[in-house]
Amino acid sequence: MGTMDHVNLAIVGCGGMGTRHLYGMKEYASIVGDVREHPVFRLVAVCDPNERNANLLADTAATELGERPRVFLDVEAMLAATPELDAVDITTEPRLHHNLAAELLAAGKHVLVEKPMALTVAGCNKMMAAAARARRVLAVAENYRRDPLVRLTHALLEGGAIGERWMLVDASVSSGGRIVITPWRHKKAYGGTLLDVGVHNVDLMLYGFGPVEQVYAQIALFDRIRKGMRRQGSGGSGGSGRGGRGGPSPSSIYTITNANAGMPDEVEPDVEDSAVATLRFANGALGQWTLSHAGHGQGFGKKVYYGSRGSLEPAPPRTGRGPQLSLDGRREPVPPEEMLALVPNFSVDEGTARLFGGTRLAAYEFDAMAIDRKIQAAVLIDFGRAIVTGAAPEVGGVEGRHAVAVVNALFESARLNRPVSVAAVEADDPTVSGWQHALDAEIGLA
Ligand SMILES: NC(=O)c1ccc[n+]([C@@H]2O[C@H](COP(=O)([O-])OP(=O)(O)OC[C@H]3O[C@@H](n4cnc5c(N)ncnc54)[C@H](O)[C@@H]3O)[C@@H](O)[C@H]2O)c1
Repeated sequence: MGTMDHVNLAIVGCGGMGTRHLYGMKEYASIVGDVREHPVFRLVAVCDPNERNANLLADTAATELGERPRVFLDVEAMLAATPELDAVDITTEPRLHHNLAAELLAAGKHVLVEKPMALTVAGCNKMMAAAARARRVLAVAENYRRDPLVRLTHALLEGGAIGERWMLVDASVSSGGRIVITPWRHKKAYGGTLLDVGVHNVDLMLYGFGPVEQVYAQIALFDRIRKGMRRQGSGGSGGSGRGGRGGPSPSSIYTITNANAGMPDEVEPDVEDSAVATLRFANGALGQWTLSHAGHGQGFGKKVYYGSRGSLEPAPPRTGRGPQLSLDGRREPVPPEEMLALVPNFSVDEGTARLFGGTRLAAYEFDAMAIDRKIQAAVLIDFGRAIVTGAAPEVGGVEGRHAVAVVNALFESARLNRPVSVAAVEADDPTVSGWQHALDAEIGLA
């Protein structure tokens, strides 16, 4: 076992995101290793049944971190051979998250799991119960809210910059005909792109407007065949390819990891790729949410928050662009310095400030790869702090499960052709759980 200032970590799942987390570890080590609340993470193992991806990640670690972790092809072998392991970072396909997390927590390991936390509420519940039993940290690696400019957006909302929060519009349409990162994302048994991407949107809604109470949705499957990965920077809600000021994209790693996994360059989707939904938030606000990966032609992506005295375009995560505030009676958006003056107490935590170069930023400029490393490092800050201090992680089971429930409510509502209560979906109420229970049957939870 590591000490409180040093955590022995394994990455389970050595594809695209496992690789991006490794670069995040490197960034984290170079910037925040000496802050008291932030333990040093030492990568002692990587695990993936795909031996090529596992070895590729171990080789990358040897180059980037200066030490080659041990390679394992399954979690049981890894647990047996590495008693020194304190924590595990799960970056596998989401249909595996619940069982892997439950097993690792039961073995006494702290767990960081990529989003979506699981495919269903039942999966999330299994993980949360395992964490509670083992008294270990369960954190979700939801990264968008860690962007310091998303933090500023949040501070402006909380500080009343637009007055009372009334309405949210979130529309993104992209990726028509293209594979969104990996073919598995277009298969029902893996939750579909609405879940894989949509949980990011919901987490930002939760962060900005609080929990969603009711969902009324229509959904459709338009694109019956997809080929090749989507063009980078094609607009929409943002998979891994957006952001930054040019240069290579974090998605480039997938060219290798997808090939190692023998992924086809063509897929026939069997799950809806588009949703149009009306939301009601617990605070009384209304939301209009469109998310589609069947957008041929011009990509589109925009979010605007409306309140009783103005509107706010939230900072698009991982772009370096700050929020834009427009107030009644003003012709121009509020300039950045004046916007910051509206939130005098706003500052990001010390680790994030070191990563991005300031405590009160209104913009930043790094290339897309650097932004991605910093955002992944910020996720580790939260995980490390939770391990060392015992404080709850910022995005834990409650937040992760809510995001899963809201996305699954799109499916439940559309199938029932009526509004559904998110609380009922989140409580696994059988009258609004047809979609979730079908997925549960797919992943051994029925
Ligand atoms: N936060 C973000 O911005 C973001 C971006 C991309 C992916 N993700 C998330 O990261 C996760 C992984 O996605 P990805 O794009 O890296 O997928 P991927 O297909 O590139 O990688 C998944 C890897 O997990 C491996 N794997 C499968 N079964 C395993 C097992 N039992 N044990 C260990 N490894 C196993 C696969 O062989 C593969 O190498 C998903 O939950 C996805 O939603 C998040």
